[in-house]
Amino acid sequence: MAARRSPVLCLIFVCVIVTYLGKVRCNEPHCSKFDFEEKVLEKLVLMEFKAEEQEKTIRKELGDMKSELKSYRDDWQKLKQENDDLKTILKSVVRSRLDEIASYKDSLVTPTVMFKARKMKDLSLDKGQTMIFKDVMFNNGSGYDNTTGVFTCPIEGVYLFTIHLCSKSERYITYDVMVDGTIHTKGANKDNTGNVCTSADAIVEVHEASRVWVQSNYDEDELYDDVYRWSSFSDTLVIPTVMFKARRMKDLSLDKGQTMIFKDVMFNNGSGYDNTTGVFTCPVGGVYLFTIHLCTSTSKYITYDVMVDGTIHTKGAHKDATGYVCISADAIVE
Ligand SMILES: *[C@@H]1O[C@H](CO)[C@@H](O)[C@H](O)[C@H]1NC(C)=O
Ligand SMILES: *[C@@H]1O[C@H](CO)[C@@H](O)[C@H](O)[C@H]1NC(C)=O
Ligand SMILES: *[C@@H]1O[C@H](CO)[C@@H](O)[C@H](O)[C@H]1NC(C)=O
Ligand SMILES: *[C@@H]1O[C@H](CO)[C@@H](O)[C@H](O)[C@H]1NC(C)=O
Repeated sequence: MAARRSPVLCLIFVCVIVTYLGKVRCNEPHCSKFDFEEKVLEKLVLMEFKAEEQEKTIRKELGDMKSELKSYRDDWQKLKQENDDLKTILKSVVRSRLDEIASYKDSLVTPTVMFKARKMKDLSLDKGQTMIFKDVMFNNGSGYDNTTGVFTCPIEGVYLFTIHLCSKSERYITYDVMVDGTIHTKGANKDNTGNVCTSADAIVEVHEASRVWVQSNYDEDELYDDVYRWSSFSDTLVIPTVMFKARRMKDLSLDKGQTMIFKDVMFNNGSGYDNTTGVFTCPVGGVYLFTIHLCTSTSKYITYDVMVDGTIHTKGAHKDATGYVCISADAIVE
């Protein structure tokens, strides 16, 4: 009996076991297999939905980021373009400014104005007659006119004029350096024993179009040109910051060591010259060109030292037994 079980009993047994087990594992009211599966499905669907939602969100965020990135890229491109444009503009501005500066440079540099002319048109001159030096050696700035002997200043400034006049024995050289009709420098020379050349300088501050020339101051002036001597007239524009000119001696008779005092101050830019002592005190360091022009009469001595801080810099002497004389000397001193 125990070995043989009827199929009905068996079925009941399985059923009871299953029911029993079902009851043991799940005490809930809706705890059927179906319910469980439904729940699982529900959960799966929910999860899927959530995943979809998340995906959607991520896609959206990705999209947003993409468009943000694009707008950043666009902005960056725009900035880059603007930067390039600015660079180009800056370059062209700098270039045009540099061109401008380069063009100014030529006008800032003081143009060269200088001339030299030699050989007298007329060797015999009357008082008041302009000395015409006809052969132009150079004429930068085109100021000098060799048909009139007049230098017309192309630009205002300070000019150094030099004249060098030669004559024969017993002949007069009498000259005035004229600036717009006014005598600026004068001198005379006559030698009874030999041919002579005399020089003079004139440092002049002039306006544009001022006229400068040399004229005779005596009816019997007679110059001389030959292979040994050239009479000439020249100038150069100079750029001084300090300059003075004083004329007329305080004392005409001088002892050795006595300072020559030129009492009438014509100009004194920088206030270096003192006409009570005859001493020029350099207001600023630099290179200075000093010129002296000393005149005397027959048989008188002119003996001079140009002194710099008590030391002799330039010296000279002149004595003419037969005539009047003016002598010049230059001293370039640092
Ligand atoms: C002016 O100078 C030039 C150059 O030296 C010369 O050719 C010309 O003949 C001169 N003119 C007169 C009038 O001397
Ligand atoms: C002066 O002009 C001459 C030509 O007439 C030229 O050769 C010379 O270079 C010029 N000098 C200066 C300093 O400008
Ligand atoms: C110094 O020069 C000025 C200007 O020329 C003049 O007025 C003054 O009298 C001069 N002084 C002397 C001592 O000569
Ligand atoms: C020199 O000084 C005078 C006045 O004393 C003035 O008119 C002139 O412009 C000055 N010149 C220079 C080159 O400084």
